[in-house]
Amino acid sequence: MQESSTQSLLPGAFVWAACAPGLAAFLALWAPGYAGAADELDMVIKRGCIACHGVTEMSVGPRFADVAKKRGGQKNAAETLAGHIVKGTAPEGAGWLKEGKASMPFMFPSRNVTPDEALGLASWILATKGEMPGLAQYVSDRFSVSGTVKTGFELSVDELRKFPRQDLREIDVVMEPMATAGKKEHLKGVLLRTLLEKAVIVSPDRDLRKIIIVAKSVSGQLAIFSWVDIFDSATGDGVLVFFERDGKALADDEGRVALISSKDTNLSCRHVRWLKSIEVRHVAD
Ligand code: HEC
Repeated sequence: MQESSTQSLLPGAFVWAACAPGLAAFLALWAPGYAGAADELDMVIKRGCIACHGVTEMSVGPRFADVAKKRGGQKNAAETLAGHIVKGTAPEGAGWLKEGKASMPFMFPSRNVTPDEALGLASWILATKGEMPGLAQYVSDRFSVSGTVKTGFELSVDELRKFPRQDLREIDVVMEPMATAGKKEHLKGVLLRTLLEKAVIVSPDRDLRKIIIVAKSVSGQLAIFSWVDIFDSATGDGVLVFFERDGKALADDEGRVALISSKDTNLSCRHVRWLKSIEVRHVAD
């Protein structure tokens, strides 16, 4: 039984591994000199840990604060945790699901983390007691819409909240589809399509199929859409710039405003935390 559920979870894991760290992270990963500049918080974001380890509440994995609390006093805690980060905790799991603090029975190996980096991350989680106050530096409460548009603009979360009622959308998503106990979350925001209609896209050669839309976060994470995705496919009905989750303002691990493509198979691929800008570009031949 355990084995078959392992198998059904694997494809999601591979897609996740390809998506969550983002292009910028891969470039940073292979850039010479990166290994020396160990900034654990940066790693937690760029290697994708943050997709499953939230700050205020459990998402897929346990909050790092809970990990530090439980593991802190244990012998060789950093080494044990580092081993779990690199090799994963399958098949027996470290017990977080049973404690009700994770929604997945085990963690996959983190292939984008070296043993040394994992030891650094584990020590950091234990030393900081799992708190991530540094996330505040990424938090955005306004974003811009610019590029090849008639009217570029900047919007604050408060201005977004004041959009006419018919423009506000509420959608339910299961944030991590590969989690076995799929918990639904209720998001509130405005469709990216509505924002782009307000800005009015201008195509230099009148060919809208050459238009792409790039959403970018304060931390450099990207999500890219084509005009067709947004205006002529079901994808567009689910691309939401949102400011509320389950009736609450977004926490520091997501910023005050974020974007998600909620109809994608893997929701961590085009989930932009700390949304900073939406840029419309024309792809030349
Ligand atoms: C796809 C979701 C996911 C990602 C991504 C992820 N984790 Fe986890 N993590 C989990 C789950 C689920 C658990 C609970 C595992 C268990 O109980 O066996 C966990 C547990 C842990 C634990 C506690 C292990 C223990 O022995 O108590 C640590 C530490 C941890 N993760 C660190 C990390 C770090 C660092 C990263 C990024 C390099 C990361 N995780 C990425 C889902 C994830």
